[in-house]
Amino acid sequence: MKIAILGSGFIARFYAESLAAQRRRDVITMICARDAQKVKAFAAQYRVPYTATDLNEAVAHPEVDVVVVALPNDLHLEAVLACAKAGKPVLCTKPLGRNAAEALQMLQAVEKAGIVGGYLEDLCYTPKFLKSLASVKRGAIGEVLWAKSRETHPGPHSAWFWSKEKAGGGCMIDLGCHCVEISRNFIGKEVLPVEVMCWADTRVHPIDAEDNAIGLVKYANGAIGQFEVSWSFRGGMDLRDEVMGTEGTIWLNNFLRTGFELFTTGKGGDYIAEKAESNRGWLFPVGDEVHELGYSHMFTDMFEAIDQGKQPAETFYDGYIVNAILDAAYASAASKQWEPVKIEGWRGAKNDIQKRTYPSYDENYYLIKEEMLPSGEKKLIVKHKQTGSIEKREPAASGTQGE
Ligand SMILES: NC(=O)c1ccc[n+]([C@@H]2O[C@H](COP(=O)([O-])OP(=O)(O)OC[C@H]3O[C@@H](n4cnc5c(N)ncnc54)[C@H](O)[C@@H]3O)[C@@H](O)[C@H]2O)c1
Repeated sequence: MKIAILGSGFIARFYAESLAAQRRRDVITMICARDAQKVKAFAAQYRVPYTATDLNEAVAHPEVDVVVVALPNDLHLEAVLACAKAGKPVLCTKPLGRNAAEALQMLQAVEKAGIVGGYLEDLCYTPKFLKSLASVKRGAIGEVLWAKSRETHPGPHSAWFWSKEKAGGGCMIDLGCHCVEISRNFIGKEVLPVEVMCWADTRVHPIDAEDNAIGLVKYANGAIGQFEVSWSFRGGMDLRDEVMGTEGTIWLNNFLRTGFELFTTGKGGDYIAEKAESNRGWLFPVGDEVHELGYSHMFTDMFEAIDQGKQPAETFYDGYIVNAILDAAYASAASKQWEPVKIEGWRGAKNDIQKRTYPSYDENYYLIKEEMLPSGEKKLIVKHKQTGSIEKREPAASGTQGE
């Protein structure tokens, strides 16, 4: 497949590392960005034959089959509309839109044009995430009750991120989009996100948008998604997820302290890992960032989907749902109330909160808790199904009975 990348900045380089630095069937044939000098340097580094500074020209080029949008947030809509007009599949970085209205326009444009719209949510493709999600889907942790995702770092690298107008918000739109989609995957994409409660504040930087935020997303089956984001966290980039289920737990640490620790006095040190704040002392580098951040699996899924005429795991519809949840989060941060998630054309289940079925101890009692104490005593706590009384029981020699 012949690929155009729009943008030659930070994320375009990560994408190019994933697409061009390893031997791949798919090739970058076009690189387009505002600054002609930077475009030429990028083209030379990644052996890209065609360059442009105008995105319409790049999209329409005959040597381009698919377009990767790696532009600032305020240009995603324009770029996607250009791809829809040209009838070329488009893969857009996160967040899809600055808000749900923009994202919906993009979703409708690709669907009307009959082209694949892939949402480049790399953190839903990290090897650890993929394996965790497969375990959750197999039922390894039972029903997911709570899925928390955290992305915090000391703030982004380009001026446009810090402009509320250009970015669509602060750390919540920038980092919260990852967290929301991670939690949503674990809870189940078919489950309706209902409402959001959010705190957001500008604590450190002289900007109009928020630089710290925490939010709770309530889903129709009672599950809670939680996001924690910051542009003022010190110490690098903290990417962690926690999933709590009725039968198990998952803890993921995607970046810092992943088992690779290096000490240096600073001699010869330079780049360590994305958003690393220091290059001396004890450091926590990341072996292969492109792979560990999910870019390799993400592009494989995207190109396979285009080849086979099917949808990738992360689509423009997912990007739209994420934007709708974040719109509700911004509304909640302003109103200090739970705010509804407004979705046009929901495609999942209409599931309401289901009545929980509790594990039975026997025909008269539910099992609440069974525990071995340090003394060796076994504790067994049950609840009477009719009277509701909570009682201590002597454990049966054979243990508990089934559901
Ligand atoms: N993990 C991730 O998925 C991830 C990480 C970082 C950034 N991003 C996203 O990638 C996008 C770009 O972020 P970045 O960090 O690469 O920004 P950046 O500032 O490093 O790069 C932006 C690029 O866009 C180009 N550009 C700007 N205006 C243009 C125009 N009118 N026409 C053509 N080119 C233009 C610039 O020349 C530059 O090459 C954002 O949407 C951001 O949210 C995603």
